[in-house]
Amino acid sequence: MKAIAVKPGIPNTVHLTELPAPTVSDIPNGRGVLVRVLRVGVDGTDKEINAAEYGQAPPGYDFLIIGHESFGQVEAVGQNVTEVKPGDYVVATVRRPGSSIYDLIGTNDMTTDDTYFERGINLRHGYMSEYYVDDAEFIVKIPKGLKEVGVLLEPTTVVEKGIAQAYEIQRRLKVWKPKRAAVMGAGTIGLLATLVLRLKGLEVTTFAKTPKPYLNSDLIEAIGATYEEIPIIEGAKKLGPFDIIFEATGFSPVVFESMQALGKNGVLVLSSVTGGDRKVEVPADKINLGFVLGNKVMVGTVNANREYFEMGVKDLAQAEAEYPGWLSRLLTHPVRGLENYEELFAKLTNPNGAIKVFCEVEPL
Ligand code: BGC
Ligand code: ZN
Repeated sequence: MKAIAVKPGIPNTVHLTELPAPTVSDIPNGRGVLVRVLRVGVDGTDKEINAAEYGQAPPGYDFLIIGHESFGQVEAVGQNVTEVKPGDYVVATVRRPGSSIYDLIGTNDMTTDDTYFERGINLRHGYMSEYYVDDAEFIVKIPKGLKEVGVLLEPTTVVEKGIAQAYEIQRRLKVWKPKRAAVMGAGTIGLLATLVLRLKGLEVTTFAKTPKPYLNSDLIEAIGATYEEIPIIEGAKKLGPFDIIFEATGFSPVVFESMQALGKNGVLVLSSVTGGDRKVEVPADKINLGFVLGNKVMVGTVNANREYFEMGVKDLAQAEAEYPGWLSRLLTHPVRGLENYEELFAKLTNPNGAIKVFCEVEPL
């Protein structure tokens, strides 16, 4: 079968390769699910992997099949799989268990291991191929009515986890009823965070730098959120203070501004993966004092386990019911066929208004 791979460690090696198709029997205990891939999304992580800034090949290989944002249809299942059947639409989770206590209880997104096993990212092949196989434990069923937007599930899970963790933490307050939320950044994750917070009934202000109107600001306003170009500290005076802030700009200095815009008892969720070594000067006393006197919390979040994929499915369904057609507007840049991987990466590295770039491996 065809697949798109990179040579980890060497920049710009993305290429088309040919390898044997997997089979259901590759997975032990009759728990295999063979999936025919329909769509695979790409994001900043794929860009970093092709730039050789991140990512490792699986043991025994000198290449890594990329792609962690999958969507496909079940082709065959092992004799002990009851959860899905051939023809079902599915998305696979990304991280695979390591050895910490968190991995052992099914929450490998919270692993304390230093080595991550992530399909399409680190030490495990990804989904940008004609087929993949995995254990049913890692396969999440998608209702037929969501097939047009199913490829958005994996990025949605990152948001689901961050927000679910924030609510879980805020149980400390016994009566927490958040009203005002801020989202930092209006890229794919910022848009999806705005959506999920709106679905919870919060007033949401999304802060970004691009002057409106453009597609992303239109999308934010279409779901009743506010788009602001002003710095969040000013925004907090106008529309805050914020009970919950979701940071997704990819620019770490914004974190310290967000800390100052957080209301008393508030929670700040950090999701930007910032690989550089940027330094900034901050009003440390003031920020610290605000956190101490305001009983505030800040939490980092990465990856998502099955639970958050299941939450994501429900939110995608609610979004389609409440804001029909909104999610499809995020799917701005399709690229037809695995053989057009160069076009896929050209669109990813030169976004030009792109929200989600994805490969249409097969028509839906
Ligand atoms: C993926 C996560 C992954 C993270 C770090 C993100 O792009 O969506 O699943 O854990 O990269 O590798
Ligand atoms: Zn990703």
